[in-house]
Amino acid sequence: MRQFQLLFLILSPLMSAQADTKIAMRVLRDECLGCHKPGKAKGGLLLTTREKMILGGDNGASVVPGKAEESPLYQLVLAEADPHMPPKKQISKAQIAALDAWIKAGAPWDASVFDELPKAAPVTLAPLPATYQPVLALAISPDEKRLAIAAGSRVHLHDLSKPENPRIGSLSGHDEAVQSVVWTLDGKTLITGGFRQIRLWDATTQQSTGQITTAFIGNLTALALTADQRTLFAADGEAGGAGFIHRIDLVEKKVLATWKAHDDNIYALKLSPDGKALASAAADKLARLWNMADGKLISSYEGHTNHVLSVAFNKDATQLATAGADREIKVWDVKSREQDVTLGDKKTAFTALAWTPDGKALVAVTEKGGGSIYTELKKHDGAQRSDTAKQAKLASASGMLYSVAVTGDAKRVFAGSDDGKVWLWDGSGKQTGSIAP
Ligand code: HEC
Repeated sequence: MRQFQLLFLILSPLMSAQADTKIAMRVLRDECLGCHKPGKAKGGLLLTTREKMILGGDNGASVVPGKAEESPLYQLVLAEADPHMPPKKQISKAQIAALDAWIKAGAPWDASVFDELPKAAPVTLAPLPATYQPVLALAISPDEKRLAIAAGSRVHLHDLSKPENPRIGSLSGHDEAVQSVVWTLDGKTLITGGFRQIRLWDATTQQSTGQITTAFIGNLTALALTADQRTLFAADGEAGGAGFIHRIDLVEKKVLATWKAHDDNIYALKLSPDGKALASAAADKLARLWNMADGKLISSYEGHTNHVLSVAFNKDATQLATAGADREIKVWDVKSREQDVTLGDKKTAFTALAWTPDGKALVAVTEKGGGSIYTELKKHDGAQRSDTAKQAKLASASGMLYSVAVTGDAKRVFAGSDDGKVWLWDGSGKQTGSIAP
């Protein structure tokens, strides 16, 4: 007993010093970093590393470790300070005390704070205008008999086994635009992601059967579900902020882990067909591959020069296709991270991609209402692009296309547009109809 007490006495100052570091650095992250980061170093001051913070800005050192009273970083947050930081706000007494104690303790650095999920900023949601119904997500049920269309805040279900693909129901309950949709493998449940909210739905009764709302900070732009239907991955982030991935236990409806995956918003997530890895595509121009079990980074795919908007695996997970706002589709060798194939005519940005489960057809759609079905992909040899794949162009639709889904036989392609319409093509690229909003 005594030994324990002794140990506690020795450890507790250390432990609390560590906690203070995190608390103080969260103040920097949440209240200061927005104006003191690369590209926006107000007053010449960067608060991204301890060295830069100490080096300071136009007026010299911002922190003198051990001496809060000589540190502008502390002095300028006090109520009477001029200039005052942040310029138009008074941070709380507790935040000021945390900075004071931290600087007195020598201002130790703990960069992991910058990778934490920030606190969700308060928002008041204005109702979505009824006319705003971009089809941000599409999902074909595993039996290929139904199509889920996310249009604005609702999800419509259509019967693909009937000639005109009639609407058979709608899911309503989200307040904001539905960003992502997945079916469970048994086709019984639909899972949708919106703003700070994941909902589960009975696909037959179209009733909401549950929701998960904790811990999210922004739009849940992508979802991926494991084959055992137990684990759901969700992409999250504030607009323009870092991209986080949550690992969620669907049975317990609990977030098990969250990690910072990208420096900017994530647009797409895909699980590899072998169920081992998770791919992400983001606005930071990168695609990344994660170990599904522990969320460790396996590799980064660097080469796009603009946002990576979509990602897909081939059949045996040896290749990864990425679609970029840089108007290129790149097909990567998953292991070597080399670019096997580059597709596209460099004229239009690709917004969404889908690879048929047999790996034979890769479908991509564009911001200009077009797209292509690529088959027989061949590796590059040098500069020629034209020979890298067989290409069937999708006859142009109207509007910007945001989402795509394809049947396993590659004979039916669906793409959702910004005006709420879903366009249909056959395997040769001929337009065969549309589903009105
Ligand atoms: C909305 C933008 C903004 C935020 C947020 C902000 N600052 Fe500043 N900061 C500025 C500007 C602008 C200046 C230059 C002010 C001037 O010279 O009058 C500045 C200057 C400074 C300086 C002086 C740099 C120098 O050498 O001249 C310090 C120190 C500083 N800020 C600390 C902080 C801290 C600490 C926070 C958070 C508690 C913070 N700032 C939040 C905009 C911001």
